[in-house]
Amino acid sequence: MRNLLKVGLRRLVKTPERRPIGGRHAIIIAVSAQKGGVGKTTTAVSLASAMARFHDKRVLLIDLDPQGHVATAIQSQLSGGGGSLSNVLEDDGGEVLDAVAPTSVQGLDVTPFDPKLSATEDLLGTRMGKEFILRDRLKVTRTHYDMIIIDCPPNIGNLCVNGLVAADYVLIPCDPSPLALKGVNALVDTVSTIAVRLNPNIDVLGVLLTRVDGRNTTLNQAIMSEIEETYGPALLPVQIGINSSLAKAQHAGKDIFSFDDSSRGAQQYRELAEVVALL
Ligand SMILES: Nc1ncnc2c1ncn2[C@@H]1O[C@H](COP(=O)(O)OP(=O)(O)O)[C@@H](O)[C@H]1O
Ligand SMILES: [Mg+2]
Repeated sequence: MRNLLKVGLRRLVKTPERRPIGGRHAIIIAVSAQKGGVGKTTTAVSLASAMARFHDKRVLLIDLDPQGHVATAIQSQLSGGGGSLSNVLEDDGGEVLDAVAPTSVQGLDVTPFDPKLSATEDLLGTRMGKEFILRDRLKVTRTHYDMIIIDCPPNIGNLCVNGLVAADYVLIPCDPSPLALKGVNALVDTVSTIAVRLNPNIDVLGVLLTRVDGRNTTLNQAIMSEIEETYGPALLPVQIGINSSLAKAQHAGKDIFSFDDSSRGAQQYRELAEVVALL
């Protein structure tokens, strides 16, 4: 009788759709900082593009920030397609792979702008196992890519926590300002808690100094020494200077290598990709 009941109930449980498993195993990097305007999106887009262009990697760039800046930043390199990341996160049994769209950069896919993503932030709060949803939705997806880069929102909400729980590494952009440094401290605290409670695999890839003003060397030096003192070797050997081509590229909707490959911004993000390629 009990077995009969089991068989009967089993029919009521939806089994997830099976998708083909790929032969890869992506390294997942969350680009995260608790302050806006420090270069998260610029870093996520430029690094993703550099890994695809110069390191022959299959790369997926996930826009987890409801502002949808990734799609704006590479608008002219998108030709439509893809689905809704919020649907994937909200419905059981989905995979991020269902939402991805190709770009004109060989090897680079992205999740397109999704206006529903800000509502997902609150909705996730009501779900069982809410911190693990993105990680679960990447299980098959990660077998189709070499690298997955997540552009996280600037607040530590449900979406950002999902990004950090799914990640192998967190890359922390920080501009040389006291406020940004405070944000690094707060984020490192959050990452430490996540490492203890939710994702023991997470590691800090490093703090990336961005928007460094070459003329303000005293401030740069003070911030750099403080990061080095607090986090030891966490400061990455590459720095990104202020470079108007990076802002212009974002405005033109192109990655920096397509907009102006000879710019300093392009050169420095290429150097960052060299470091990341060693992972
Ligand atoms: N190194 C840089 N030099 C000059 N402008 C930059 C640089 N990095 C980012 N920007 C510009 O600064 C603004 C904020 O950058 P963004 O990457 O969108 O930050 P976040 O995602 O952290 O909010 C954008 O207008 C961007 O084009
Ligand atoms: Mg952004």
